[in-house]
Amino acid sequence: MTEQKIQIEDESIQGETGPTVKKLKEFDPNAPVALITGTSSGFGMLTAITLAKQGYRVVATMRDLSRNAELAILAEQADISDRLQYIRLDVTDANSVQEAVQTVLQNNGRIDMLVNNAGFALGGFIEEVSMDDWRRQMETNFFGLVAVTRAVLPVMREQKQGLIINLSSVSGLSGFPGYAPYAASKFAVEGFTESLRHEMSSFGVRIVIVEPGAYRTPIWNKGLGEIHRSNHSPYKDKLDAVLRYSQHAGETAPDPQEVADLIARIARMRAPRLRYALGKGSRLLIIGKLLLPWKWLEWIIARGLR
Ligand SMILES: NC(=O)c1ccc[n+]([C@@H]2O[C@H](COP(=O)([O-])OP(=O)(O)OC[C@H]3O[C@@H](n4cnc5c(N)ncnc54)[C@H](OP(=O)(O)O)[C@@H]3O)[C@@H](O)[C@H]2O)c1
Repeated sequence: MTEQKIQIEDESIQGETGPTVKKLKEFDPNAPVALITGTSSGFGMLTAITLAKQGYRVVATMRDLSRNAELAILAEQADISDRLQYIRLDVTDANSVQEAVQTVLQNNGRIDMLVNNAGFALGGFIEEVSMDDWRRQMETNFFGLVAVTRAVLPVMREQKQGLIINLSSVSGLSGFPGYAPYAASKFAVEGFTESLRHEMSSFGVRIVIVEPGAYRTPIWNKGLGEIHRSNHSPYKDKLDAVLRYSQHAGETAPDPQEVADLIARIARMRAPRLRYALGKGSRLLIIGKLLLPWKWLEWIIARGLR
């Protein structure tokens, strides 16, 4: 790899159709490259900043590049704008995934780390969630993650090194009432990632699942906005309780920077574990599942939603 600084001049956004490098200036050609999905807000945005501060060239992808303003301001404030590249990637669009990975390779020649972060939480009671919404949830949180992983695997396999971090959730450990589609998608991520770890271990590719409890990101408001509510629903009172819980979590949950810091810490590990649970909810649930009979857990969850 050449020692001289690389200059890439394309500063434009070419619209919605293709992956487009928005702002590339000078960067260190020897810095490791991290590709992150869903960096317009929340964990993805904070992870982009944290990894860039740690010396990564960060490819910050998002499905709508016009939503990069908050990330760009944070990067400017931290004086690391030159370490960020913005590329359009919608995880549910196969062409967008392929084109984005090709563009990353053309610009950087390699991908050292993938953070499969993009996702959303669809709420509602099972009977009342439409099949279209069930499929939409799985398309983004599960099949989208599979598509991006499959696009990056040949690169890491040939490099004989790499790190893939998949964002699961406390909902990948236990199903909660009112969030079945979300839980199903995250349980799928858990099983997929276990298999992936077995398959990639002999190729030097490290595979990790991060399982956060509730953190204060926009996901809660987005999820609340998506729920269909009807005064005639037999689930109305239960759904109201779930909504109250979600609203409370959205306002009072801990600082999401904890998750970005954990991801940056895993990036420095030579031999990370498969699972990292963080946040009060996740840790309590793991201990509860180990120690308590299932009926007791049910009672605790029902009581929490009262
Ligand atoms: N916050 C929590 O309490 C919590 C707890 C456990 C796990 N998680 C997981 O953490 C991950 C990040 O969530 P967050 O809390 O940071 O929420 P967030 O702020 O809403 O971020 C989600 C990101 O995913 C993006 N996204 C959604 N659909 C996409 C698609 N089709 N293609 C590409 N990007 C897409 C969003 O883009 P737009 O801006 O365009 O919507 C956004 O950038 C998710 O996988 C979530 O399930 C969150």
